[in-house]
Amino acid sequence: MKGVILAGGLGTRLHPLTLITNKHLLPVHNKPMVVYPLEVLRESGIGEIMIVCGREHGGHFMNFLGSGKNHGVKLSYALQDTNNGGIADALRHVEDFVADSDIAVILGDNIFEDDFREAVARFRHGSMIFLKEVEKPHRFGVAVFDETGEKIVSIEEKPSEPKSNFAQTGFYIFDNRIFSIIKELKPSHRGELEITDAVNKYLEWGELEFSFVKGFWSDAGTFDTLLKASVWAATRSHL
Ligand code: G1P
Repeated sequence: MKGVILAGGLGTRLHPLTLITNKHLLPVHNKPMVVYPLEVLRESGIGEIMIVCGREHGGHFMNFLGSGKNHGVKLSYALQDTNNGGIADALRHVEDFVADSDIAVILGDNIFEDDFREAVARFRHGSMIFLKEVEKPHRFGVAVFDETGEKIVSIEEKPSEPKSNFAQTGFYIFDNRIFSIIKELKPSHRGELEITDAVNKYLEWGELEFSFVKGFWSDAGTFDTLLKASVWAATRSHL
């Protein structure tokens, strides 16, 4: 399985810091943000990783991470000319890199305590997503369960009235069909190709598995969550 870190986007919620560099290079306690998802992929047993980032600060990633040798992984990079097409649009750039493999995708601003070693080893085909109970589900993709509470019937992207408190975190596993799914996607009302629409396709086919993330999880894309993630990382490093 190959790994992809999505590190594009404009980072407008972190202006003016993201006028200086890419959001994913800002510090989360004592490390640039992107190191956390990189370590999660490595700890999940994935050693060949592509980072997708915008052209504006693309060179900053290469200066910092180089070949990946110092982090025990093999890195390649894909540059996006335009930065606002959404997560699924960014994934188009990794098709050649992934070739015939399956892929694990992690959003570059997601900070996980858990890793996905067991899920990666178990994966055969279809897609897997990973849920976490949160206080503000409307900020995320939200799982809608059937009456038994054991089966997901859909994932709703940032619903104004969430039907559960379980957010879809920014770690996904897909088989190779993800690329043909993306080619058929239509932009959402926010003008983006949504990863959630691709996940819903696997659900329609009855090929979506889900499990729950253990320990800390947060995104770090706003000043509040950047601070929350930094406080968690600082506390952990003193344990
Ligand atoms: C994205 C996804 C959303 C997911 C979230 C996790 O949202 O669209 O489904 O719950 O990442 O961080 P975004 O951060 O692009 O707003």
